[in-house]
Amino acid sequence: MHATARAGINIALVKYWGKRDDAENLPAVGSLSLTLDSPGTTTTVRFDAGLPADRFTLNGQERADRRVFQALDAVRAHAGLALRAQVTSENTVPTASGLASSASGAAALGLAAWAAAGLPTDDLAAQPALVALVRRASGSAPRSLLGGLVELDRDTTAVTQVLAPQAWDLRMVIAVMTHQEKKVKSRPGMTLTRETSPYYAAWVEHHAADLAAARAAIDARDLDALGAAMERSTLRMHACMLAADPPLRYLSGRTLDALDAVEALRADGVSAWATMDAGPHVKVLCHAADAARVHQALIDVVGVSEVLVARPGPGARRVGG
Ligand code: PMV
Repeated sequence: MHATARAGINIALVKYWGKRDDAENLPAVGSLSLTLDSPGTTTTVRFDAGLPADRFTLNGQERADRRVFQALDAVRAHAGLALRAQVTSENTVPTASGLASSASGAAALGLAAWAAAGLPTDDLAAQPALVALVRRASGSAPRSLLGGLVELDRDTTAVTQVLAPQAWDLRMVIAVMTHQEKKVKSRPGMTLTRETSPYYAAWVEHHAADLAAARAAIDARDLDALGAAMERSTLRMHACMLAADPPLRYLSGRTLDALDAVEALRADGVSAWATMDAGPHVKVLCHAADAARVHQALIDVVGVSEVLVARPGPGARRVGG
């Protein structure tokens, strides 16, 4: 009773920020993301009659992570199992500071546990119990169950593939600004924003229009239109956070320097568009043919510690036996 699964991180083009139900981790807004081939997480789950309790190891270190044990409980309840499990995870995400490692981690864990329990793994999005347990671990994680461009619907919380990874040759160029842990994790950050930001209602209200614009741009394979919707979404999300009390500021001076570099690329005719999550890193969406130029422009920004180029990737999948 064991299985190994791999999942890539996903980066939201149209952001999710805010919950309408904290216990079930239901989003206040829909979101649309790109799943990447790497970095990501590989996780093995082994249900074992000899284990007195669940155990979790991440990159060789034993951890007591409540969300991991809750996900195992949900799989056990669904499969009618009582066995405890050993969970072994390897993360290739370079930092725990807002680079979406929780999304690839929760998707890989959910699928590995689901498969180890003998539950069906042919169409992951069609398993609402799997999608829900992955979402409870991390709100953005169900999007990593599917590959390419993926939408998470606010009302049904279902995930759907909008475009397969090989259908559009895009790249996400990631400027890593720091290897420090983020100051405020996304859960408390979302609560603070909802409860204190006067812009929160406007953020929620305008969200559907950003999603519709992004969908239309994807249909037309129009990167300029998609990029404009993407930058609007991230800046509106950060504006809403900045207006919280106390203010929630994930962006650093280097983030703004990278945004200047992206604007300069556009002035030079390169279709390059930026997005930031709950951290200072800048992720730039561009055509594959422009990735080398974008990479160089981001390396030239003072203080950027590392630049990764990622491709659209597949959804969470089983690997090995
Ligand atoms: O999945 P969480 O709870 O870490 O929330 C992630 C939220 C953002 O990364 C900031 C935006 C998004 O849609 O991924």
